[in-house]
Amino acid sequence: MSSSFYEATVLSVHHWTDRLFSFTTTRDSGFRYQSGQFAMIGLEVEGRPLMRAYSMVSPHYEDTLEFLSIKVPEGPLTSRLQHIQPGDPILIGRKASGTLLTQNLLPGARLYLLGTGTGLAPFMSIVQDPEVYEQFAKVILVHGCREVRELAYQDRLSKDLHEHEYLGELVAGQLAYFPTVTREPFVNQGRIPDLLGSEEFFARLGVPKPDLAGDRFMLCGSPAMLKDTVAVLEAAGFVEGNMSHPGHYVIERAFVDK
Ligand code: A2P
Repeated sequence: MSSSFYEATVLSVHHWTDRLFSFTTTRDSGFRYQSGQFAMIGLEVEGRPLMRAYSMVSPHYEDTLEFLSIKVPEGPLTSRLQHIQPGDPILIGRKASGTLLTQNLLPGARLYLLGTGTGLAPFMSIVQDPEVYEQFAKVILVHGCREVRELAYQDRLSKDLHEHEYLGELVAGQLAYFPTVTREPFVNQGRIPDLLGSEEFFARLGVPKPDLAGDRFMLCGSPAMLKDTVAVLEAAGFVEGNMSHPGHYVIERAFVDK
């Protein structure tokens, strides 16, 4: 086995829908990552590692790792991965990377985490990191899905985190969770780029309309979602950030689609 991966063990599996599941695994004590990063994970198939990029759902300080995945019937990896059971081996890359890091953003007052589908994953990690609440007065997590059932981690976000021993107070005071659904009735409806253009969205959040001085954005979703959301941000003058030049927003593709 290549030394760039290690073998972890699946601890639990949760099937949200017939298209979406999540699972937890053991964590190698040497595996380090920052909130919002991803690693290569996969399975050994016909004697060879079949690996894809997955964002960590779990915060960087957790003893176990958690991942969120779609299931594609014909997908080389997910058609197999969706059948994993507690006790099964799983391969995890030793190196984490990614652009959804607060250090790639200029300082600001509000941080928007805008994700569709499994693009929620890196933001789960970020909203469980106490540091983000030191850097931003308000953290606004928007998760867009087709159906209500696909709003993974809804209970954790709207309830469990509020009761968390260390994070509870920070989350209660500073995190706004705004789930939105596009293909059935729900309390919040509409696609993310459209929400960004609606006065009502900001009024409901109780925040001013975004401006260059105060607002920062992280985006994670399909290529189409990223393109349309970036277009809205760029039209308002927001500039993409990276390692060498922090900016107003950063983007990452929600990886696995096979
Ligand atoms: P819609 O139902 O209107 O297609 P998917 O499961 O296909 O990845 O979609 C997840 C969510 O992303 C859905 O709510 C979907 O809305 C939305 N979506 C699809 N395309 C875009 C886009 N170009 N910009 C923003 N959101 C999008």
